[in-house]
Amino acid sequence: MFLQNKNIVLGVTGGIAAYKAAELVRRLKDQGADVRVVITNGGKAFITPLTLQAVSANPVSDSLLDPAAEAAMGHIELAKWADLILIAPATANTLARLTAGMADDLLSTICLATAAPIAIAPAMNQQMWHALPTQENLARLIKRGLLIFGPGAGEQACGDVGYGRMLEPLEIVDLVVEHFQSDSQSSAQTLAQTSAQTLAGQHWVITAGPTREAIDPVRYISNHSSGKMGYSIAAAAAKLGAKVSIVSGPVNLSTPNSCDRIDVESAVDMHKATMALVEQADVFIACAAVADYRVANVSEQKIKKTADNDDMSIALVKNPDIVADVAALKTKPFTVGFAAETQDVERYALAKLAAKNLDLICANDVAKAGQGFNSDDNALRVFWTNGHHDLPLANKQQIADSLVNLIAEKQQN
Ligand code: PMT
Repeated sequence: MFLQNKNIVLGVTGGIAAYKAAELVRRLKDQGADVRVVITNGGKAFITPLTLQAVSANPVSDSLLDPAAEAAMGHIELAKWADLILIAPATANTLARLTAGMADDLLSTICLATAAPIAIAPAMNQQMWHALPTQENLARLIKRGLLIFGPGAGEQACGDVGYGRMLEPLEIVDLVVEHFQSDSQSSAQTLAQTSAQTLAGQHWVITAGPTREAIDPVRYISNHSSGKMGYSIAAAAAKLGAKVSIVSGPVNLSTPNSCDRIDVESAVDMHKATMALVEQADVFIACAAVADYRVANVSEQKIKKTADNDDMSIALVKNPDIVADVAALKTKPFTVGFAAETQDVERYALAKLAAKNLDLICANDVAKAGQGFNSDDNALRVFWTNGHHDLPLANKQQIADSLVNLIAEKQQN
């Protein structure tokens, strides 16, 4: 019973996820909270006030001008009663209305009239979530101190897949509990601010996957990079609202939602495509496993095995160093490199940080089983000039989410 003696006003707005509001009320009450529901006209199209009254055991309010309320000012009573205003689901329209400070219905008026913290659990189509106005509204709400719970990703009611799903009722309750449990600065707020930190208006360029250096028309030199790490970073940045361009070596992955993708084969191609994009970019992340050398003279015809040659050698020449060239630009984006090493990981990573003039470097121990090349998981130690941060072994998408937040934080300092 972590929410004993807590008064929660639950705002229910007009999205399909409103059907989960009844479950959310029950789970909040399981923890001892007293819940009073305020529903908008849109919300009533998806769930009835009667259902919410039954599960909350309190009257449901839907009208700004309520003759039944003491002094006919239900909004002031509820605004003062609440220890937390929780809006779940919060539609894109709700975000816009809160940002503008509208006060033309009960819920928006309570939000203006309350001194209690306000938490919102966004729920909308993934394209609406990524839309610039939504991300700009979100940024302003975060700046004002609102707590943002989610959204999650997955299949949506409209058939799209991506970010915009309301968190599950139990996840929301956990965040509410965290909020009340923390002493000074709410950990829920920190979590929410991190997870919802907006990158709207920014352009991130990310290299991913391997390169292929042709030997002849049928053979090449390459490596085991699958592109999973780079694509996960792209997805994480896009989900926070950045415009993302992936310069991708050959991989078997689908392009993450709302990212642009430029397919290349060789290091020279990757260099050319990247340099054409980065001048206007805010962040460049070199996650690709780029071949350091290419074949000096690529044979036009398939090289034949001959009876008298047991050995053969191929002359190699150095490839351009993409990340170093980006970092050397007069107006360079915030530049992040990776260091895939099998020994002395930290020493080599720090050497690359300095030699390539990077802002951050992600040291990746690729000798350890279960992480690095072509694995679903990874672990990184991220270095900057005077410090480091560990991202312990986790799924690459989780690593990417944390890394993107770290980059966003460092980039702003
Ligand atoms: O693709 P996955 O299977 O998910 O695996 C992820 C990964 C292991 C490939 C990734 O996490 C990683 O570590 N990428 C960097 C691999 C690498 O080539 O590291 P490096 O230490 O050789 O290169 C150092 C940095 O310089 C890297 O940022 C690299 O992209 C960059 N580089 C290297 C050579 C070159 N010619 N141009 C470059 O930009």
